[in-house]
Amino acid sequence: MEQNALLQNIKEAAEYIRSKYPIEPEIGLVLGSGLGVIADMVQDGVVIPYEDIPHFPVSTVEGHAGELLLGTVSGRHVLLMKGRFHMYEGYSVETVSFPIRVMKALGVKILLVTNAAGGINTSYNVGDLMLIKDHINFTFRNPLIGPNHSELGVRFPDMSEAYSRRLRDIAKTVASEQGQKLQEGVYIGLLGPSYETPAEIRMMRTLGADAVGMSTVAEVLVARHAGIEVLGFSCISNMAAGILDQPLSHQEVMETTERVKQTFLKLIVGIIPR
Ligand code: 6GU
Repeated sequence: MEQNALLQNIKEAAEYIRSKYPIEPEIGLVLGSGLGVIADMVQDGVVIPYEDIPHFPVSTVEGHAGELLLGTVSGRHVLLMKGRFHMYEGYSVETVSFPIRVMKALGVKILLVTNAAGGINTSYNVGDLMLIKDHINFTFRNPLIGPNHSELGVRFPDMSEAYSRRLRDIAKTVASEQGQKLQEGVYIGLLGPSYETPAEIRMMRTLGADAVGMSTVAEVLVARHAGIEVLGFSCISNMAAGILDQPLSHQEVMETTERVKQTFLKLIVGIIPR
């Protein structure tokens, strides 16, 4: 996209959202597959279907709703994306990360991202929650390619603490107070839509990845470029290929997220006021 068009599109999307909810949201949330129920925690909210927002793409995949919610959680103003965009749907890396640019324009300071991911680390179990410590960009696409607009961020953004240590410490404190087990590991993001082969999973384990998925990385790159602090969680919805003697299915992904969503919700509700 031509850069001035990008700036104009961000502005128009933000203005439309502001016209529906005039208060500046402090925290942005992006919820992955099956985790949309977390939207139920938003109070006094307005719901904006993606298709009503200028320049917003519309999501297609089953289990991804496609609406923006603005409201409060524990007294904090939040903007919540119920359903996200994936490159496997055919969207460009710029498109999947566009909503994060709009969040920045609306004043979001903290981004909380969640996803469903396959467990690569053999000490993980299906249903575990993993705090994302770092990521590996195996999409080899970057939403920041192109002329840099200094009003959006610096040309060469630092990624040495993409996932905020401060926020991770808060998450660990809340999890331990709630008696919840929390893994911490490295997320590797791929394009999908096919799941990986066992050989690919062995390679990724060697490279230091603990969980694998098809989202999050592009969103986090844009957030860090914009100076937004990031907290990320993966729900280990299944073990990656070659670990258990069974094929992978989207069905299992949805069933696991369905099973753990209440404890996931409790953790997030506990973190937001902190
Ligand atoms: Cl095993 N791989 C990928 N790429 N995404 C996933 C997954 C696996 N499980 C849930 N999402």
